[in-house]
Amino acid sequence: MSTIDVRLEDRSYQVTVEAGIRARCGSVLRDFVGDAPGRKVLLIADEAVSETFAEDVAASLEEAGFDLAFGTVEAHETNKSLPALSALLEAAAREHIDRSSVVVAVGGGIVGDLAGFVAASWLRGISLLHVPTTLLAMVDASIGGKTGVNLPLPDGTLGKNLVGAFWQPLAVLSDPEVLSSLPRRELACGLAECVKHGLIADWALLDELASLAPSILDGDVVACTALVRRSAAVKAGVVSLDEREQAGEESASARAFLNLGHTFAHAIETVPELGLKHGEAVAIGLVAAGACARSLGSWTDADCDHLQATLEACALPTRLSAKLDSEDLIERMGWDKKVRNGTLTIVVPDGRGSVCLHVDPTHQLLTDGWNAVGAA
Ligand SMILES: NC(=O)c1ccc[n+]([C@@H]2O[C@H](COP(=O)([O-])OP(=O)(O)OC[C@H]3O[C@@H](n4cnc5c(N)ncnc54)[C@H](O)[C@@H]3O)[C@@H](O)[C@H]2O)c1
Ligand SMILES: [Zn+2]
Repeated sequence: MSTIDVRLEDRSYQVTVEAGIRARCGSVLRDFVGDAPGRKVLLIADEAVSETFAEDVAASLEEAGFDLAFGTVEAHETNKSLPALSALLEAAAREHIDRSSVVVAVGGGIVGDLAGFVAASWLRGISLLHVPTTLLAMVDASIGGKTGVNLPLPDGTLGKNLVGAFWQPLAVLSDPEVLSSLPRRELACGLAECVKHGLIADWALLDELASLAPSILDGDVVACTALVRRSAAVKAGVVSLDEREQAGEESASARAFLNLGHTFAHAIETVPELGLKHGEAVAIGLVAAGACARSLGSWTDADCDHLQATLEACALPTRLSAKLDSEDLIERMGWDKKVRNGTLTIVVPDGRGSVCLHVDPTHQLLTDGWNAVGAA
């Protein structure tokens, strides 16, 4: 199946994963918005692909009769910001982007989150099409409608994703061919989210990832296509259960399951001496969450070893590269968004291919998690 359904009532859409689809973006978009000569598109592209894959997207849109305006973004967390949002909104005004226009986002998660927020906020919301260009954006960031920017905090750190909106796209068009220019380290970061998806809902995927990893890290199109479809299906399934991460009895806040490993990851992601990318921090966070599952009795030593070996095969770190104090790290976890009403909640595996929310973990449990990744 090349398409995956994201079921959200009147906001439902499909994720299509197909080699070469970037050259058909124009006709796909025309199918959605109809034949309107001169309809404006604001194409917001990652600088890294603005002269390659984004040009293919632009050519296809022009061929389909759209009138293009461009914005480019250097993908850096400091550019996922209110000033960058403001510059793009000013471009929208300059280019007469109106209610019938469409924002097309071509890039990784940074561009997708920023361009998505432009679409959500311009004229109180116009249509959006996602064309993700990183593995992480294909399996995770482009699906589910979270958009937003970071905000500098009074203490000098960057408050990630503090300002934003839920805004679902018309569709997500993922072309695995564009991964050919993505650095290996970025491919590995995408794999970390695939490992997470395996742990949440597809243990067979976890079993296969170690043998798939070499082809994925080489950007092999066939292997990447199969993996993106499978991993995106997990994300789409979870989002379909719980669009807005609202704790409800029926869904048990299913979307919160996607935070597996992330509460640990957020405590180490911005520690300068570790120099970790998000996916690398998540990999270490998954090991810590696995160790918690072992302490709680739901995982065996063999499960923990399996996870560690899989992450290593994916060229991901599984331990901290500097000696950090577990007390400090536990304190940093308290700043995470998962703190509600002053109570920390973590996600832990409760079996093979299933996870649960663990509210108010004991200090000892968190220490076990951090010790497993080498904290003192
Ligand atoms: N909205 C969500 O649900 C969600 C989920 C997960 C992550 N995110 C956000 O996504 C961001 C991370 O996304 P990311 O990992 O895609 O990182 P990214 O957008 O920073 O891209 C990684 C790097 O790859 C480059 N790049 C992108 N496509 C390329 C290509 N095809 N060839 C060569 N280089 C390319 C970029 O310029 C950048 O240097 C974070 O800001 C995170 O908060 C959002
Ligand atoms: Zn993540």
